[in-house]
Amino acid sequence: MGSLRKRGSWLWVLLAISQICTLCVATPNPKTYIVHMAKAEMPSKFTHHHDWYASTLKSVVASTKLESKTEPDPTKKIIYNYGTTFHGFAAQLSEDETEQLESIPGVISVLPETIYELHTTRSPQFLGIGPEVAENIWSSALSDHDVIAGVLDTGIWPESPSFSDKGLGPVPARWKGTCEVGRGFTAKNCNRKIIGARMFYKGYEAAAGTLNETTEFKSPRDQDGHGTHTAGTVAGSAVPDANLFGYASGTARGMAPRARIAAYKVCWTGGCFSSDILAAVDRAVADGVDVLSISLGGGVSSYYRDSLSVAAFGAMEMGVFVACSAGNGGPDPVSLTNVSPWITTVGASTMDRDFPATVKLGNGMNFTGVSLYKGRDNLTPRKQYDVVYMGGNASFPDPRSLCLEGTLDPHAVAGKIVICDRGISPRVQKGQVVKDAGGVGMILANSAANGEELVADSHLLPALAVGDTAGKAIKQYSKTVTRPTATIAFEGTKVGIKPSPVVAAFSSRGPNFLTLEILKPDVIAPGVNILAAWSGNVGPSSLSTDHRRVHFNILSGTSMSCPHVGGVAALIKATHPDWSPAAIKSALMTTAYVHDNSFQPLKDASTGEPSTPYDHGAGHIHPVRAVNPGLVYDISPDDYFEFLCTQKLTPNQLKAFSKTKNRTCKHKFASPGDLNYPAISVVFQEQPASVVTQHRTVTNVGTPVSTYSVKVTPFKGATVSVEPSVLHFTKQNQRLSYKITFKAKRGQSAPEFGALTWSDGTHSVRNTVSLTWVVPL
Ligand SMILES: *[C@@H]1O[C@H](CO)[C@@H](O)[C@H](O)[C@H]1NC(C)=O
Ligand SMILES: *[C@@H]1O[C@H](CO)[C@@H](O)[C@H](O)[C@H]1NC(C)=O
Ligand SMILES: *[C@@H]1O[C@H](CO)[C@@H](O)[C@H](O)[C@H]1NC(C)=O
Ligand SMILES: *[C@@H]1O[C@H](CO)[C@@H](O)[C@H](O)[C@H]1NC(C)=O
Repeated sequence: MGSLRKRGSWLWVLLAISQICTLCVATPNPKTYIVHMAKAEMPSKFTHHHDWYASTLKSVVASTKLESKTEPDPTKKIIYNYGTTFHGFAAQLSEDETEQLESIPGVISVLPETIYELHTTRSPQFLGIGPEVAENIWSSALSDHDVIAGVLDTGIWPESPSFSDKGLGPVPARWKGTCEVGRGFTAKNCNRKIIGARMFYKGYEAAAGTLNETTEFKSPRDQDGHGTHTAGTVAGSAVPDANLFGYASGTARGMAPRARIAAYKVCWTGGCFSSDILAAVDRAVADGVDVLSISLGGGVSSYYRDSLSVAAFGAMEMGVFVACSAGNGGPDPVSLTNVSPWITTVGASTMDRDFPATVKLGNGMNFTGVSLYKGRDNLTPRKQYDVVYMGGNASFPDPRSLCLEGTLDPHAVAGKIVICDRGISPRVQKGQVVKDAGGVGMILANSAANGEELVADSHLLPALAVGDTAGKAIKQYSKTVTRPTATIAFEGTKVGIKPSPVVAAFSSRGPNFLTLEILKPDVIAPGVNILAAWSGNVGPSSLSTDHRRVHFNILSGTSMSCPHVGGVAALIKATHPDWSPAAIKSALMTTAYVHDNSFQPLKDASTGEPSTPYDHGAGHIHPVRAVNPGLVYDISPDDYFEFLCTQKLTPNQLKAFSKTKNRTCKHKFASPGDLNYPAISVVFQEQPASVVTQHRTVTNVGTPVSTYSVKVTPFKGATVSVEPSVLHFTKQNQRLSYKITFKAKRGQSAPEFGALTWSDGTHSVRNTVSLTWVVPL
């Protein structure tokens, strides 16, 4: 994907700059820092916190630049003031200045700008999936509350039919957002669907230089496609006959088709910068969004140093639900991003729709792969074409096997089907290289690392992707036969694929490296082969050589699963406007399912074996049940703060979360496991045996008078008791508590998983339970 390559090279440039600058001590090059201030400590002489920030900055600039009286107004160094979800400012500072700032009272932290990335890296062009999910699940009777979903991404393509405002009422009166204008984006581009559009580039420009307005839209307009796709998934209006080249045809609609969209553009060709992301979250919450969908990650693995984590805490305090992508770092364990408990962390899974294509070899063998190819350069049906693989042999591997640019000799490939190995260059680009060299088709073979997970792309020539096993067999054939031949056929869209859902191989995995007691990811949602709206600025393959223009595109990644959860959260919010973000998350988690459509436990695409809660969290979301969960595990902002008090943060680090509330630790929780999380993760700290007790409180949001009884799956490594084992509710919103005790048995050490389920005969409220043993050295 072209834009990703550019993002990559920018990272490189920035790294290079920072390396050079370790040498230039004499003339320190200012960089952007995010200065987090303890607003509760503002001296009374200031009436506005901006004045306090400016004065704080002036004091260090004055003391480090004593001699240079000509220095311009130091407050000009401030690129952002933050004041809603986060208190402080972003400014261009020298290292001296940051050191001075750190010792000033009221300054909590001074964090360098970091670059976040969009979570589609592993899967630009997968295949298509079901708009009918939304269609079947949501009856039109669902209320039409004015729920507003904010999307932080690459902007929006307002002409997409997904953003039609037909049938929507006036913009909610409480909305404080606006429609920012710029190249290619006027106030007319907002409507009753896109009710807000803003852009945040000051951090980007401070680090990377002024945006090139010839090549980029310095406006909320999306030239990448990613932001249009995620916004369409959250809340796109229904569009009949949507498809990509006829694939995945059906009605496209977002999860919350009547919700409003506010687009916050924070990602540019060079990446997404933390100071811009912070400004966008801060602004979105002040504008009045109810839900935020953020398909970004990166940053720092810490609750208080990760700007997105701190800003999301502020959003949660203001009642805003935040969904974030888990990341595409799977199947490696411990590869999650966005693990803060106040964020809903979303992994990705497949749907029951596929786009099969077959390759038939000259010897009669055939293999099934996937493809989204549709074009004029069709192969003659059933005609066998010569096949070539530049793979060399085991002792002399040939780099030409990767079909990188400039490696294919037209004499060797013209008129042939070329076998290319996955890796290094974008998949669709390999097809372009084959086409440019005169090849007529491509078989894209997975490496062992990709296994059997298939990635379908809208290739520029007839091409399909095959798994590692098929790839090896086809390569073997091509090397052992004097004149190997093959043909490729495309079979369109197939539905009813079993098993599904399956956890995508690329979906980032737990456990949660920051706090084992908090299960992450929280849930999985469709993230493979998602059809949604697309930018009119770029072809479906995102290659600059791709001049095709489409209204819809098919993408994969946790970037795609996150907006499904953001959209479903908006629907829950529409039905239950008074629910807290934690209640919505609880509803999503306790109603999630852990079986696929062949009635087997969920599987992991990377192994074909059953997945665990480290892969799928509480399971796959079940939106209809989530609207009526029976009981919820609610968590107040104060309780999240108490959770942080168990996390060995220094008093100053804790201030990042205490803010104006002037919170102090009440030491309410003996362990982080006492947070009223809708999953139970028990950590045994010692062998041979130990006892862990956790407490939970459930709120009755179902039938006012109801009786729930508990069931716990048996564990090999521990005995479990729940007290009480029956909960009698007599009214709505009544809260009842229970306690669950685990007594570890001898000899267990591997993690073990199960569930604790409360049921009243109608509702089934399932808590995922995981047991881990951590033996101190
Ligand atoms: C914060 O609370 C503490 C004790 O609860 C109190 O002593 C202090 O004055 C408060 N600070 C502010 C700025 O309100
Ligand atoms: C902006 O991009 C265009 C097209 O690539 C290029 O010709 C121009 O020199 C660039 N401008 C700047 C200021 O870099
Ligand atoms: C593929 O091969 C199988 C078994 O050899 C055969 O039954 C099937 O019809 C073939 N499919 C195609 C598309 O040729
Ligand atoms: C492997 O390839 C190299 C270079 O093409 C060739 O010299 C060598 O004989 C090959 N070895 C085998 C076992 O085929």
